[in-house]
Amino acid sequence: MQLLAQLPLVLAALPTLASGAATFQKSSKRGLVFVPNSAHPSDNQIWVESGSDLTWYYNYGLQPSSAYANRTQSEFEFVPMLWGAPSSTTDNTFLNGVKALISGGRNISHVLTFNEPDGSSSTGGSNVDPAVAATTWIREIVPLQKQGVKCGAPAVTGSNGGFTWLASFFDACQSQGTNCTVDFIPIHWYGNFEGLASHIGQVVGTYPNTSIWITEYALNNADLADSQSFFNTSAEYFDRLSYVDRYSYFGSFRSSVSNVGPNAAMLTQKGELTDIGSWYLGGAATNNIPKASAASQLSSASALSVGLAVVAACFVLL
Ligand SMILES: *[C@@H]1O[C@H](CO)[C@@H](O)[C@H](O)[C@H]1NC(C)=O
Ligand SMILES: *[C@@H]1O[C@H](CO)[C@@H](O)[C@H](O)[C@H]1NC(C)=O
Ligand SMILES: *[C@@H]1O[C@H](CO)[C@@H](O)[C@H](O)[C@H]1NC(C)=O
Ligand SMILES: *[C@@H]1O[C@H](CO)[C@@H](O)[C@H](O)[C@H]1NC(C)=O
Ligand SMILES: *[C@@H]1O[C@H](CO)[C@@H](O)[C@H](O)[C@H]1NC(C)=O
Repeated sequence: MQLLAQLPLVLAALPTLASGAATFQKSSKRGLVFVPNSAHPSDNQIWVESGSDLTWYYNYGLQPSSAYANRTQSEFEFVPMLWGAPSSTTDNTFLNGVKALISGGRNISHVLTFNEPDGSSSTGGSNVDPAVAATTWIREIVPLQKQGVKCGAPAVTGSNGGFTWLASFFDACQSQGTNCTVDFIPIHWYGNFEGLASHIGQVVGTYPNTSIWITEYALNNADLADSQSFFNTSAEYFDRLSYVDRYSYFGSFRSSVSNVGPNAAMLTQKGELTDIGSWYLGGAATNNIPKASAASQLSSASALSVGLAVVAACFVLL
């Protein structure tokens, strides 16, 4: 899953609700799946404001985000991702790009590979054949590992097809004469906590003695109470499991453009932190209730805003 584009929405200012007091545990494992908001660039800074728990981020790409150009790698660690397979079998853009970041003084210690290669582009997947991924891995990733960079397995979807794809990938490496050794396995999960825990168990059962990163997860399209309960339970679980090294919740966007339902989002339609958003950063509950529609917040009907909201909804891919 990937949120691909956001369009500007015209919003009316409403008074801030009173703050609650409940706080949530802090964790050094927490990072950001960064979904930049060009219409409201101030949203991008919310994740790194002082006191934020978040220590690392990825943006599905090779280059650090301009929004965080003034953050050093040790302040807010950037993790590059090789998103898909380049069409040319001699394309080393990713390898050379990471090397250039390192030689430029940025301490790149981890990279992610292949966003949902078993998924189609309609859901934000990179739709890569396992054999092509293996060729790409051997060419662009193995040299980084030799340089000491820790490399994540292809980040397949949480479906059964993900397991099949990953097994085919490792087989394809072997038939190309290389054991593609992964340093950690990223997991994506959309669904309830029982499913998530069972899925992690299945990954660890299939690939024992591995480190896990949960790089996208949420209970999608659920009511607010269930979304919050899922958030609490899963974060506590990840913090408790020693083999979960890092996790990044899928929700760094406004509820009005969310493709996983408004209640999973970490920002309201007005760009304020929701309870989940604030807890994720290590703060107190805000009592800000996310709404699906930005237009519903307007004091009077605005054809322009409603039209933009509809267009925006079409750009948000499921
Ligand atoms: C970093 O840059 C952003 C704009 O890109 C700005 O909003 C933010 O205040 C800056 N932060 C610091 C600590 O300089
Ligand atoms: C590079 O980053 C890794 C991971 O954060 C850290 O363990 C290591 O000490 C850093 N190295 C340098 C030279 O800063
Ligand atoms: C790959 O791993 C297998 C099993 O551990 C081992 O027998 C084989 O020698 C390895 N091949 C390479 C090319 O490293
Ligand atoms: C588990 O991984 C560690 C560190 O990579 C290694 O030293 C150890 O031998 C592994 N254990 C098994 C059972 O594979
Ligand atoms: C989630 O955790 C917060 C902070 O501890 C707490 O206030 C809230 O009641 C919890 N919500 C659920 C549904 O567990």
